[in-house]
Amino acid sequence: MNVLFIDACVRGERSRTLALARRFLDAYRTGHPEDTVAVRNLCQDRLPPQYPEILAERDALWSAGRLDHPMFQPARQFAAADKIVIAAPFWDLSFPAVLKIYLERISVCDITFGYDETGKSVGLCRARSLLFITTRGGSFSRPGASWMEMGARHLEALCAMYGIPDFRCLCAEGLDDVHLDQRALMQRAMDRADALAKEF
Ligand SMILES: Cc1cc2nc3c(=O)[nH]c(=O)nc-3n(C[C@H](O)[C@H](O)[C@H](O)COP(=O)(O)O)c2cc1C
Repeated sequence: MNVLFIDACVRGERSRTLALARRFLDAYRTGHPEDTVAVRNLCQDRLPPQYPEILAERDALWSAGRLDHPMFQPARQFAAADKIVIAAPFWDLSFPAVLKIYLERISVCDITFGYDETGKSVGLCRARSLLFITTRGGSFSRPGASWMEMGARHLEALCAMYGIPDFRCLCAEGLDDVHLDQRALMQRAMDRADALAKEF
């Protein structure tokens, strides 16, 4: 299995999300020694946003059928992965812009999604499962607040578009709430990461 790990943890070594993702990946590698894990670090990649000239270039390449062009490499890599893990912190009720830029880059018609002869949208990605790993300062899983959470929900909707049926989310939340025990919350999430690595 080829696992693709997309790292959008902007705070790098200080990131709690990255610590949680590393815990999951370490446990996963232990349980699946034959699998390969390709890492895409979005803060190193620094893909440019789709400014007008980038979008124009992309449209021209796409119209010319140049889906083999390097511009589409991230989309081809995403579409070909057997399993996908995305790690990103909760920022402004969603995730950092570096991840949005990446998602715009990989959302390419005829690579990650397409349309059938009736015009219906069909997913073209090979992966059956995508795991989103995140940490949040506040608590947004509980009823009453969950409608404000737009990071995991955004990715879950994109999975439907890409044809990835199994979306999962591993999160630690409430980490910046002074009334909560941050260490205990992280420890519980780490334990869940270990368990998830066995069945992912
Ligand atoms: C730019 C920025 C925006 C944030 N926005 C939110 C937010 O909207 N809601 C929230 O509960 N926490 C927010 N947080 C807190 C983070 O979600 C929380 O500290 C998280 O654990 C950070 O993950 P990291 O350690 O992987 O960077 C924000 C933090 C930063 C730096």
